[in-house]
Amino acid sequence: MFKKEEIKKIYTAKIKEINKHNKLYYDKSSPIIPDREFDNLKIEILDLEKKYPFLNDRRSPSNAVGFRPSKNFEKYKHKVQMLSLSNAFDKEDLLNFEKKILNFLNEKIVLEYSAEPKIDGISASLTYLNGKLTYGVSRGDGNVGELITNNLKTIKDIPNLVKNNNIPEEIEIRGEVFIDKKDFEKLKNKFSNPRNAASGTLRQKDSKQTSKIPLKFIAYTFGYISDNKFKKQSDFLKELKSWGFLTSEHNKVFNNILDLLKFHKEFENKRYNLNYDIDGLVYKVNNLQLQKRLGFTSNAPRWAVAHKFSANHAYSEILNIDIQVGRTGALTPVAKVKPVNIGGVIVSNATLHNEDEILRKDIRVGDTVKIERAGDVIPHVLEVDLSKRKKNFSKFIFPITCPSCKSKTEKEYNKLTKRFDAVRRCTNEGFTCEKIAIERIKHFISKDAINIDGLGKKVVEKFWNLNFIKLPQDIYNLDYEKISKLDGWGLQSVSNLKFSIENSKKVKLDKFIYSLGIRHIGMENAKIIADFTKTLKNFCSLSKSNKIKDLINIDGIGETQIKSLEKFFENKINIKVLDKLSEILKIEYKQIEKKGKLKNKSFMFTGKLQNISRAEAKSLIEENSGSIVSSVSKKLDYLIIGDKPTNRKVNQAKILGVKILTQKEWSELLN
Ligand code: IVH
Repeated sequence: MFKKEEIKKIYTAKIKEINKHNKLYYDKSSPIIPDREFDNLKIEILDLEKKYPFLNDRRSPSNAVGFRPSKNFEKYKHKVQMLSLSNAFDKEDLLNFEKKILNFLNEKIVLEYSAEPKIDGISASLTYLNGKLTYGVSRGDGNVGELITNNLKTIKDIPNLVKNNNIPEEIEIRGEVFIDKKDFEKLKNKFSNPRNAASGTLRQKDSKQTSKIPLKFIAYTFGYISDNKFKKQSDFLKELKSWGFLTSEHNKVFNNILDLLKFHKEFENKRYNLNYDIDGLVYKVNNLQLQKRLGFTSNAPRWAVAHKFSANHAYSEILNIDIQVGRTGALTPVAKVKPVNIGGVIVSNATLHNEDEILRKDIRVGDTVKIERAGDVIPHVLEVDLSKRKKNFSKFIFPITCPSCKSKTEKEYNKLTKRFDAVRRCTNEGFTCEKIAIERIKHFISKDAINIDGLGKKVVEKFWNLNFIKLPQDIYNLDYEKISKLDGWGLQSVSNLKFSIENSKKVKLDKFIYSLGIRHIGMENAKIIADFTKTLKNFCSLSKSNKIKDLINIDGIGETQIKSLEKFFENKINIKVLDKLSEILKIEYKQIEKKGKLKNKSFMFTGKLQNISRAEAKSLIEENSGSIVSSVSKKLDYLIIGDKPTNRKVNQAKILGVKILTQKEWSELLN
């Protein structure tokens, strides 16, 4: 018989050994033992633990927190957010895009654009320090990506070292990783399309695997630059080329929308001859100084737009119409159609949007319909081919009770438009309607919310049916023993799941608020509310003594959001979920350190400003760490008055002792 100490010694030695290989494998991508040996070592450790329950070690593979599973890469916070682009589909959208820019700049100038193919791949960020590739990162959720430097280094188009004096001390180069069409042909059996192939390959835990697939990289923009000497996007693209990067040979500069449209038309056909997939063109304001002034909205730059190629169409027959219930109770009709190939993708579901849409288009089961699919947007039914309508196809009757919980449904009345909403909703608030509950849990775990990537949507459904998860808090009380006995769950996947669940416990307040899935509270609103409440306790006590109403003074929060929050807090189950989650999670709030001149100062405008749009004025204040409020109160620091101000506001400010500034005085304050 072994003594306790001896067993412990053997155990600790094995733990040390496996951690050494773990590091070699995941961090350095240079394992020195075969996979099978690694797995055996793991099994030996787990067996020992089972046999001798007194054994435990934080670094053991059974303890997912201490043991980094293969799927997870180290996280990396982007210095400059990686946002997506807003879309345009036609001339009107483009004219609108330009109009918004000119309004924002409040100038009548001719804008020059850099037009570039929109490559349908995976974006990546490459940070060069003194010309040396130091960090290679995926986009992630836009704020935090995964450190995949070793995988990116296997791509031949990515220089490891840029020997050019012109490269800034620190520069983050961004571009698209993709597989070209020819190379994809060879991988067809493994992946459904080139984009998925690129994405899968890039996230291989072993960069040797990545290097086997011929990924390519085209560079097109920058993130952080320590010293920006470039004047135009087109100059920057040229510079990229001289540094040894691949840029698109189709990039071109134009100075009016009509020429952009012509270029787009040319490309609609040309795209099929390119050796990689593109799903549109990107137009960027060429002047980088103007780009800087224009800045970003919460999810896209104001200075760029993606002009998508027109959609693909096909005809198919409606087999059935399903009513899906969404997270906010919306009843969405979905046509189940005979599977049809639309532009390379097999489609068997097409959305019918809402009740009114079915009525308006008189869509019936049995009908042959025209279906449209554009990029990654859900396919939708465009119109009915009436020539194929048969007499026995009866009108579709939209249910008036929820198909999931049988509660009453309703269409809300919109006071502004004086119309009923087109969407019908289940009136059952929250977790008592099965479908709403499942959708809310799916939302809770999603990337921009709590972010549990080991727990996908399909798994949520499975665990729901097995009664493992009925409320968000159940996620933190899962029986891993039981899960490991389910079909398809191995040691590694259970350990991954445990790891990502443990990992999700530390969460920022804004993400937590967003994860609750409160209607009308998107990411941007959640951030605003987190900045206002600062602690979970304050957030939870919003419902008390009319505190929600205080939110109305904050720019970005309106009556709709307030009503929705009130409704959320009225529901007892919501409160219970909140209580439970606040016991389990470690919710933190970190104020982004404000350094600007207008730190902690609030502003409000009245009247027309000279030479600057309201939008640019607002963004100038926010860039300097000030905030904008929407009503005059004691809490307001400055009222800035332009031409023809509202007298009531000025008088109120005077009564309350709020400082009043002219536009000139405000400019002086800024400079
Ligand atoms: S510029 C702030 N240029 O399209 C975003 N993006 O839908 C600046 N993309 O996430 C991006 N080709 O992955 C830019 N020539 C191009 C692009 C391009 C493809 C991708 C990129 C981005 C996505 C937005």
